[in-house]
Amino acid sequence: MMPVQKNISLLPYNSFHLDVHAAEFLLVKSAEELQNMPGQQFAEPMLILGGGSNVLLTRNVEGLVLKIDIRGIDELKEDSTHVYVRAGAGENWHEFVQYAISRNWGGLENLSLIPGSVGAAPIQNIGAYGVELKDVFYELEAFDRKKKKVFTYGLNDCRFGYRDSFFKSAEKGRYIILNVTFLLNKKPVLNTHYGAIREELKKKGVHAPTIRDVSETVIHIRRSKLPDPAEIGNAGSFFKNPVVEQELFLSLSAKFPDMPAYPHEDQSVKLAAGWLIEQCGWKGYRKGDAGVHKDQALVLVNYGKATGREIFDLSEKIAASVQKKFGVKLEREVNVF
Ligand code: EPU
Repeated sequence: MMPVQKNISLLPYNSFHLDVHAAEFLLVKSAEELQNMPGQQFAEPMLILGGGSNVLLTRNVEGLVLKIDIRGIDELKEDSTHVYVRAGAGENWHEFVQYAISRNWGGLENLSLIPGSVGAAPIQNIGAYGVELKDVFYELEAFDRKKKKVFTYGLNDCRFGYRDSFFKSAEKGRYIILNVTFLLNKKPVLNTHYGAIREELKKKGVHAPTIRDVSETVIHIRRSKLPDPAEIGNAGSFFKNPVVEQELFLSLSAKFPDMPAYPHEDQSVKLAAGWLIEQCGWKGYRKGDAGVHKDQALVLVNYGKATGREIFDLSEKIAASVQKKFGVKLEREVNVF
């Protein structure tokens, strides 16, 4: 087991590049280490970090930070059409996606270049370009801090929803995801119905795309719109796209005929938060080092020395103006600590 480190800066461990400190910091390499940890080490307040790409740190952590660094990719079993692949929670998401693509295992290609770790992916059911994690999920193992035991959770146990799961809504930090098993397709079925992917493939003259073509197209689209966290601090979409009732949608679309909208479950409608924020005049806004990305208004950025508090305050102002202009409540996608 690694030693507990004291008074560590979390700057290298969060994609918003926020310089808060952890009183104690521990790199976790295995489930056994968690099981053997003395109970008092799990005292509050504590924070579980995966890739650190979906968290806004607004203060120092007075307790323990666990950085999950459980590695390994294993092919568990296969049949004529599918392969079951288990990846450690600490594996980098994009590297895992590329690993699958290099073996021609289909299913993950639309989720290329999403920052973060494998273990964080199910927590908010990551999604992009028409695919969500739940579409390729088989099961996961998680350590329950309360019971000090490892449990297996299948698809239904996880209660996946739009950027949501049982693990996001459960008590914060109770479950620590150890590994995730994916069900991948040896005879890939491509998902290219998302407009931007179709257009880009057409532009490139690709008529019979492979999963690698789809992956490269997704990478190209993401690079053209989303800031690279290695260069500008950010955590991807800051808010969820809001889901509204038919009635509100109809009155809004009468007033704003250009408003993008997508059908959602039970007659509800999903609106584009980026569009709503842009309409309120925030796109490209900057105050100090906290700002709104110039090409994607749904992404808040840290140009250098912004604090988590400044970014949080900016997000409150944005949400208030969207509420005022459209009567729509924006919900944060990132986890605030
Ligand atoms: N739009 C604007 N202005 C903006 C941004 C967007 O008018 O500043 C409009 C676009 O023109 C488009 C619509 O809003 O009509 C939707 O935009 P986009 O296709 O860029 O996707 P998004 O809804 O903003 C979602 C996910 C992204 C994911 C993309 C592609 C959420 C919260 N975000 O963004 O996920 O990559 O779709 O599937 O669902 C993330 O979760 O961190 C993330 C980046």
